[in-house]
Amino acid sequence: MTDQTMTLEIKNIPIKPAIPANAPIGVFDSGVGGISVLQHIHALLPHEHLLYVADSRYAPYGGKTPEEIQSRCFELTDFLIAKGAKAIVVACNTATAAAIDRMRAKYSLPIIGMEPAVKPAAAASKNGVIGVLATVGTLKSAQFAGLLESYGRNVKVVTQGCIGLVECIERGELSNEATLNLLQQYCKPLLDEGADTIVLGCTHYPFVAPLIRQVVGEDVALIDTGAAVAKQLQNRLSVLDLLAPPDQAGEVRFWSNSPSKNAKPVIEALWGGSAEVLAL
Ligand code: DGL
Repeated sequence: MTDQTMTLEIKNIPIKPAIPANAPIGVFDSGVGGISVLQHIHALLPHEHLLYVADSRYAPYGGKTPEEIQSRCFELTDFLIAKGAKAIVVACNTATAAAIDRMRAKYSLPIIGMEPAVKPAAAASKNGVIGVLATVGTLKSAQFAGLLESYGRNVKVVTQGCIGLVECIERGELSNEATLNLLQQYCKPLLDEGADTIVLGCTHYPFVAPLIRQVVGEDVALIDTGAAVAKQLQNRLSVLDLLAPPDQAGEVRFWSNSPSKNAKPVIEALWGGSAEVLAL
């Protein structure tokens, strides 16, 4: 009998023991992109143990059907729960759009998702034109349509699906010619329309923010949601009395199912330090 399944029988009513506050937080993405969110979580919540899963064998999610993405999300969530996770962060805009409602219906633990920062971008834009770089899956989703409906009414929103960009970042190609060419191609329509604010609507993209900056220049604001997600996670854990004890030193562990031999070096380069990377 494991801690997860152990129950106390009182008058035949099973009582599940509460997950302890020192349990880890599970974080996953279609690949290595969610490490950009993990960095914000680790910086804000240094006492939390973090378990990160890169589903790189199945990346990119952007061209997959919602059903395929939901099935990946269930498998990864089951894995993280089996590892003792007290909460799950879906560090992927595409997976959130396709699966967060189903996940919340299926699981009882807190599930934090993310969406492109249309609302803060609309508030920050001076000229009323914002650009959104995201995966095709995110841009086609009902969730994104709802975001535009709620927060995009008073601004012009120029969207651009970035096919192939996630793959470059999965290979760790953050500053080569091919990645630069893609970014020039994808940022051009946004710049042509006069966007003064660009939303990085995929968690992989902050890793090429320096290259995006090179393409768009200094006057365009780039908006990423990683810090807001970390804050939301902190609030949720605090309300549930699930924040890790302050004397705990947070440990971070990675799993990857990437077929590439470069998985560990790429993860370490993005994380910015040595990392334990286990096979999923
Ligand atoms: N990091 C994922 C996101 O935020 C990338 C999705 C993909 O694999 O296409 O959307």
